[in-house]
Amino acid sequence: MKFADAALIALVAAGAGLAVGLVGLLVAWLTRRWSIRWQLTLVAAVAVLTVFGGVLGIAWLMFLSGHDLLVITVVTSIAVVVAILVAFVIGSAMVRWSGAVQLQARQMALGGHQKPSESGPRELRSLSAELAETQRRLEEASAREARLEESRRELISWVAHDLRTPLAGLRAMAEALEDGIAADPHRYHQRIRVEVERLARLVDDLFELSRIQAGALTLTPEPVLLGDLVSEALAGADPVARERRVRLGGQVEDGLEITADPASLSRVVSNLLMNAIRHTPADGTVEVRCQLAPGDVRSVDLSVSDGCGGLDPGDMERVFDLGWQGSTARTPAVPEVTDGSSAQGAGFGLAIVKGLVDAHRGRVWVENLPAATGCRFHVRLPA
Ligand SMILES: Nc1ncnc2c1ncn2[C@@H]1O[C@H](COP(=O)(O)OP(=O)(O)OP(=O)(O)O)[C@@H](O)[C@H]1O
Ligand SMILES: [Mg+2]
Repeated sequence: MKFADAALIALVAAGAGLAVGLVGLLVAWLTRRWSIRWQLTLVAAVAVLTVFGGVLGIAWLMFLSGHDLLVITVVTSIAVVVAILVAFVIGSAMVRWSGAVQLQARQMALGGHQKPSESGPRELRSLSAELAETQRRLEEASAREARLEESRRELISWVAHDLRTPLAGLRAMAEALEDGIAADPHRYHQRIRVEVERLARLVDDLFELSRIQAGALTLTPEPVLLGDLVSEALAGADPVARERRVRLGGQVEDGLEITADPASLSRVVSNLLMNAIRHTPADGTVEVRCQLAPGDVRSVDLSVSDGCGGLDPGDMERVFDLGWQGSTARTPAVPEVTDGSSAQGAGFGLAIVKGLVDAHRGRVWVENLPAATGCRFHVRLPA
């Protein structure tokens, strides 16, 4: 073929392509908001019409016979129709697949469930899988939020209950004293003191908890000899233990020392001790033990065991929840006339223990003792 012929063919093909391409772009712009089905059909139409235009142009320039021109026209026309049909079918499938993802997103907004789509191109399938994963994470977050909201509501009603009961008792006793109908005024004064101490302890606990939860706890870590700390805690709990006829025991490895905030650590031990004494029947034993953690010499294990008869497996996680108390703990009790430290609590003790231990980057958990004799609370702290 001569160079001039080749150049002419290229020119005609380029001219036809340019003309069809420009018209195609204009139509694409005009139909830019239409369904992807039409966009795909347009792409296929531009491709085959470019070929169609080029071939017809060349055939006409080359003065092909009427028969050859007809053959070429029929063949290219069929190619145009087939290409457009195929593009339309693929476009319709795309519309169906993206409709499935759309439905999944809509179901997600309504809180329903839709399995991730398994048909369609890779991009749509991964978009669908991503949507399903997002829905799972959203559900988890909203379940967490609902649990938090529920526990906040419970806490408010528990605190209200824990304030109302002693306040009602205080009002009744104050009125009896005012009217002069109290048979034993001295006993009433003692009871009022006990209730006021209990309320003061409740408010102190709430304040401590709010500092823990706000992250406003200021720890002053210093070397603490665990032998001394446990002796002091045992001495502090001794009057309550005597009153309840509970034996107290302590075993601390010699020279065991950790770096911790002494006041917080005392609070941890005394909260655990008070709980243990309160849940141990008369003549039972409560024991504090301190040793290097078995299998980890960089941690110390402090444990308090009691004779409570064992905890329900379902309660073992809940005991550390803020405000949670065993099923019978919130039934109003007649206030005892003691120094107030053993009186009915509000379910804050173990939440405070957990908050303080967490702040020391430690861990706290509870296990039942063999033969359901009691339970043992463990505190594991970095040495
Ligand atoms: N040593 C224990 N033995 C058996 N049950 C326990 C023991 N310690 C705690 N519990 C259970 O866990 C609940 C929560 O304990 P927590 O110390 O947080 O609150 P509380 O002792 O009821 O009140 P507070 O500590 O505010 O005075 C208790 O009500 C009790 O049911
Ligand atoms: Mg307690």
